[in-house]
Amino acid sequence: MKFFSGLLLAAAVADAYYTFPRLVVNGKPEDKDWSVTRSTKNPRSKQGIENENPTSNDIRCYSSRTAANIATVLAGSTIHYVSTQQINHPGLTHYYLAKVPARSSVTKWDGSGAAWLKIATTMPTIDKNKQLTWPGQNAYTAVNATIPTGTPSGEYLLRVEHVPLHMAMQANKAQFCLSCSQISITSGGNSTPGPLVSQPGLYKRSDPSIQVNLGAIKPEAYRPPGSLLELSRSKHVSLFEGYFSAVAPLVGGKWRRRADRKLPSCISKPMTR
Ligand SMILES: *[C@@H]1O[C@H](CO)[C@@H](O)[C@H](O)[C@H]1NC(C)=O
Repeated sequence: MKFFSGLLLAAAVADAYYTFPRLVVNGKPEDKDWSVTRSTKNPRSKQGIENENPTSNDIRCYSSRTAANIATVLAGSTIHYVSTQQINHPGLTHYYLAKVPARSSVTKWDGSGAAWLKIATTMPTIDKNKQLTWPGQNAYTAVNATIPTGTPSGEYLLRVEHVPLHMAMQANKAQFCLSCSQISITSGGNSTPGPLVSQPGLYKRSDPSIQVNLGAIKPEAYRPPGSLLELSRSKHVSLFEGYFSAVAPLVGGKWRRRADRKLPSCISKPMTR
């Protein structure tokens, strides 16, 4: 019996999630892990958010505490994150910004309320052999994004999120790997960013983009979760077609899902730095 529970524990540890402990701005990483990025609850355990439930408060920043420092970020900067493990699962990467309310500070604010704006999302591309490539998949960094030049100057929480979808055909099995950094945007513009949404509040467990059998739905039916960016419908279709031809060959006009075991494994390789 003891041996058996040891095995269970080993299985739980092997199914590790990647974390994003270090923000990189125009090629310059924060000085050390979790200095402008708020430590998540899982830097050691690598466990997912509570019950993989996107309506839990964990979905906001998954933070265990605030960070000591603030990164100064010129509007228009290129940003990305260092990951603790290889980002080896298929899935979308999102970036969000939330402006700190006037009477608060980014070192204190919890990010509650309708404050979040999606500034970037990724979609897979297809090569000439119909093989799917997810931007950033198998890299040790999250994909690059740009802080929009029109963003008003001020303090913000910047949120990175990768959503592995390899097990999302089961309820509550989409995964959410995320963290938030404390930043101060300078030389910004005077746009009025929107629409603003709350986290939790943006995603539902039953969202067809979160509980989704990617091999069984029509490709054109898929939308990224919490889509706020106006990507054209035709672009969605052509980009996602690549995914379906990669994991689910089209047979007799119907998408057929390959056996689950053919999908990428859950085990991530630790990063060497
Ligand atoms: C991402 O941004 C960094 C600078 O922060 C740059 O060195 C790198 O080439 C960029 N990568 C891509 C794929 O554009």
